[in-house]
Amino acid sequence: MTTTPAADPADSAFLRACRREPVPHTPVWFMRQAGRALPEYRALREGTAMLDSCMRPDMVTEITLQPVRRLGVDAAIFFSDIVVPLKAVGVDLDIVPGVGPVVAQPFRTAADLPRALTPDDVPYITEAVSALVGELGATPLIGFAGAPFTLASYLVEGGPSKNHAKTKALMYGEPQLWSALLDRLADITLAFLRVQIDAGASAVQLFDSWVGALPAADYRTFVQPHSARVLAGVSDVPRIHFGVGTGELLHDMAEAGADVVGVDWRVPLDEAVRRIGPGRAVQGNLDPTLVFAPREVVASKVRDVLEEGKAAEGHVFNLGHGVLPETDPDVLKLIVDTVHAGL
Ligand code: CP3
Repeated sequence: MTTTPAADPADSAFLRACRREPVPHTPVWFMRQAGRALPEYRALREGTAMLDSCMRPDMVTEITLQPVRRLGVDAAIFFSDIVVPLKAVGVDLDIVPGVGPVVAQPFRTAADLPRALTPDDVPYITEAVSALVGELGATPLIGFAGAPFTLASYLVEGGPSKNHAKTKALMYGEPQLWSALLDRLADITLAFLRVQIDAGASAVQLFDSWVGALPAADYRTFVQPHSARVLAGVSDVPRIHFGVGTGELLHDMAEAGADVVGVDWRVPLDEAVRRIGPGRAVQGNLDPTLVFAPREVVASKVRDVLEEGKAAEGHVFNLGHGVLPETDPDVLKLIVDTVHAGL
């Protein structure tokens, strides 16, 4: 009797690139590939609030699979949000459509420190990841969480912020309280990532979306030790670390313990590789607004990114930030097909 071996995500182009091994083609996925750009997402989400949908394993599973089916991307990213673990430990917050996370009582004193997270707080995450890993077969699932600085920014500002002024005031003005906050957020983030890995996620991405607001020296003092502790706790899977406007921080973010450094569209990948140094893969970095350009321009820019990515020991193609809601999914498909066709 012959048995067909179960298809294994470990052999996928995505995980091979993360491990800096030879690949059959450059793997590609998109930050925010599950979301408002897809009509089937808008239809399914109709009438269900964002955070409620994140707590329903049936919806999470279907929404995560939608872009895999439609676009043929090389990896799925778990549908959730960086504030889900905060909600799970009792922080009073909501995700307001068109705005983002809004926190009812912004963080001010030690009395506002959130409690730690245990797997029992998020049974719906374990359930959804387990179901997804079964459905996805050979396609790897990327788990994710928000990094301590970016989560702190939402807690301290009370919502989205342009300059992160209150966050920085706390960081520079009350360094002990800042450290206590980031330490607790690191615990929560690490626990949230472990739940996803223990349920079968093949890789993780730690989003420090807004840390580009800091100069490198302050990043190293006030942020890096906490992010490093999170990344050290998930070293059993490839770790992607990403932020926006982090051109000056790429080296230090790699040193925090990333296997793959996410790069936004501002720094060409070959220059990013020079800043990051050897022994890491890179992810990125097509400008998300390029999807609105004529198709031949899109295809040509995709090839430029592939060319620049050759400088890296491993390259995972992505946008330089998330898919914009107005994006035509057919252009995303064109990008996937152009990446897979190669140079
Ligand atoms: O497809 C994927 O990438 C997985 C899903 C995902 C979401 N949020 C779903 C979501 C991921 C990885 C996130 C992470 C996230 N959430 C980050 C880091 C990534 C980044 O963009 O830098 C941040 C900063 C957040 C906070 C947040 N949540 C914002 C800024 C918003 C957008 C607000 C808006 O309406 O424009 C959200 C809400 C959110 N999270 C949506 C989705 C699909 C949109 C809500 C909706 O569809 O109703």
